[in-house]
Amino acid sequence: MKVLNFGSLNIDYVYRVQHIVRQGETEPAGELQLYCGGKGLNQSIAMAKAGVTVYHAGCVGEDGQILIDALRDAGVKTQYIRRVPGPSGHTIIQVDDEGNNAIMLFGGANQKITEEYVDAVLNDFDDEDIIVLQNEISCLAYIIEKAADRGIHIVLNPSPYDKVIEEQIDVNLVSTLFMNEVEGEQISGDSDPLNMTQTTQMMYPDMEIILTMGKAGSYYRNGADPIWQKAYRVEAVDTTGAGDTFTGYFVAGICQGLSAKENLKRAAKASALAVTRYGAGPSIPALAEVEAFDPAAV
Ligand code: RIB
Repeated sequence: MKVLNFGSLNIDYVYRVQHIVRQGETEPAGELQLYCGGKGLNQSIAMAKAGVTVYHAGCVGEDGQILIDALRDAGVKTQYIRRVPGPSGHTIIQVDDEGNNAIMLFGGANQKITEEYVDAVLNDFDDEDIIVLQNEISCLAYIIEKAADRGIHIVLNPSPYDKVIEEQIDVNLVSTLFMNEVEGEQISGDSDPLNMTQTTQMMYPDMEIILTMGKAGSYYRNGADPIWQKAYRVEAVDTTGAGDTFTGYFVAGICQGLSAKENLKRAAKASALAVTRYGAGPSIPALAEVEAFDPAAV
């Protein structure tokens, strides 16, 4: 079984602010840091750190060597990544004193994925393999359609949720869906988390569903009764990338044959550790740290 993540790569410009800037307001930023991020890159790093071999496909621009290096340093296979003219994707992220964030995303090279490139990559994967996707790249609907044609197990994190997910994606082709409460409400029409998972399961009976709810924990549902996992209480400094850490660790756990319960617990520990550190990619913990993490000690 091979794991392919066809996903975004962003340079994150992270500004520390006392509070997230409101409309019409000017707020001085205390500090500026540059980190490697993008939901795709973060999830690939999390899977690699959890101990799974992962191939990353996606586009970077002329300034993108730093992104390729970050993936390589984490052990991710980068041979499918393409360099295209122009800038890489980047974000402007505000992180406030409580670790909350607000993100402005510029797609850059992430929006230059073509059907020809998708075909060339997918040619090397088949029905034994898994593909992991988020919604920060172009051609997402095409990737899903072609991956399904090849029988590849499709994992989708429909984030950020927009018209592409609503109007172009055939969600029936997805085998494993990671959603947060906002995405869950948009997909199911329900605002209560438990109902959200139930309705989504009724809409897509064969789908494995994972709902992440930040401090309220997470739910797993796959036909039977849902399993709930609490979020571990830690001193958060930056929540950016915590959801990606959870997703990457959980997908790795699927590949490693963990039970849903064990897998939720390990992913919750990994994302708890991630919020205690700054940045997205750099905040993702190694497996040994996750296994050594004792929630009772914090
Ligand atoms: O999920 C966090 C990520 O979202 C950041 O790294 C940023 O690049 C945005 O894509």
